[in-house]
Amino acid sequence: MSHKHQTLGEFIIENQSSFKYTSGELSRLINSIRLAAKVVNYEVNKAGLVDVLGAAGDTNVQGEDQQKLDVYANDKFIQTLVNRNIVCGIASEEEDDFISINSTDKNNQNKYVVLMDPLDGSSNIDVNVSVGTIFSIYRRITPVGTPVQIEDFLQKGNEQVAAGYIIYGTSTMLVYTTGDGVNGFTLNPAIGTFYLSHPQMRFPEHGSIYSVNEGNYIHFPQGIKNYIKYCQMEEDNRPYTSRYIGSLVSDFHRNMIKGGIYLYPPSTKNPQGKLRLLYECNPMAFIAEQAAGKASDGTSRIMDILPTELHQRVPFVCGSMSMVEKLESFMRDSQRS
Ligand code: AHG
Ligand code: MN
Ligand code: MN
Repeated sequence: MSHKHQTLGEFIIENQSSFKYTSGELSRLINSIRLAAKVVNYEVNKAGLVDVLGAAGDTNVQGEDQQKLDVYANDKFIQTLVNRNIVCGIASEEEDDFISINSTDKNNQNKYVVLMDPLDGSSNIDVNVSVGTIFSIYRRITPVGTPVQIEDFLQKGNEQVAAGYIIYGTSTMLVYTTGDGVNGFTLNPAIGTFYLSHPQMRFPEHGSIYSVNEGNYIHFPQGIKNYIKYCQMEEDNRPYTSRYIGSLVSDFHRNMIKGGIYLYPPSTKNPQGKLRLLYECNPMAFIAEQAAGKASDGTSRIMDILPTELHQRVPFVCGSMSMVEKLESFMRDSQRS
C-alpha cells in the first residue's frame, strides 16, 4: 500500500511483527494513546470557546501553575490507559507519585509502564500557540503480576521501547518511534483518522535554526554563551535564525523537519535546567536519535543517565547531529580554559 493512504491503525498492525516482543500489547498501548490524543485534541481545539482557560487554582509538584487543560489532558490519558487495562503503571509530570494499576490483581500480566508530559508548552494555551503531549514507554523490570515499583520508572532512556509526541498545531500530528525510525501521522479532523504523512523522519545533518530562551543568557555557563555568539556570527552559513516557541514539542518538531538545535541550558538560577529527564528529555532524545539527530546534556548522552528521581531535571540540548556536536565542543573548550 502506498504510504499516502495508510492510517495509523493499519501501520500499527503492519509493523507489529517488527517489535522485539510481539504479544500485541505494545500495539494496543499505542492504539490507546492514539485514542486519548484525539480526545485531548478535540478539547485543545475548542479551548478558546469554552471555559477551559486559565489556572485551575492548583499547582503541580514543582510548584508551577497548572492550567485547566493540563489537568484535563492528564486525566484523559490516565483514564484511557487505566480503563483499557493496558499498562501496569503510569508516571506523569502532573502527578506527585507514580500510579500503580491493578496492583492487587495477580492476573494483571501487563508489562509496560508509561511516563508522560500530558500537556507540554501549557503557557501557550491562552495565546493560541501550539502545545503537545510527550510519552515514553518502558518494559517493567520487576516481575509481572506484582505492584510496580519506583525502579520500573527510574530506567535509563536507553531502555525505552517506544516514545512519541502529539503536536496540537496548525494540524494535529502524532509522531513516534518503536526503535525502528520515526514516523509522523497527521489527523484528518473531519473523520478523526491519523494518516501516515511523514514516513521515516530525519533531522538534516546540519541546520540553520537555534532555539533557546535567550532572556536567560546572562545566567548561562560560558560554553553556552560562546556557542550562542557563534550562532550569531557572520561566517560560513551563519548567522543562524533564532526560533523559540516555548513549547518543546513544537520547537523540536520544526527543528527535525528544517534542521536545527534546541537548548534548555543550566543557569545560575536552575543549575539542572528546567526540563524533566523522564517526561521530556528521554522521549525526545529517543526520537532524535532514531531520526539521525543527537541529544545531550551539553557533555554526555541523555539516554545514558541513570535517573534517581521521578521529577528529575536535566540540561537539554537536542537536534541536528553536527550542531549538537559543535555545542559539545564549545562546552569542552570552556571547561578546559
Ligand atoms: P510544560 O508546559 O510541560 O511545563 O513544559 C514547558 C517547557 C518546554 O515545553 C518549553 O520549551 C520550556 O518549558 C519553556 O521554558 P521557558 O519559558 O523557561 O523558556
Ligand atoms: Mn513540558
Ligand atoms: Mn506539561
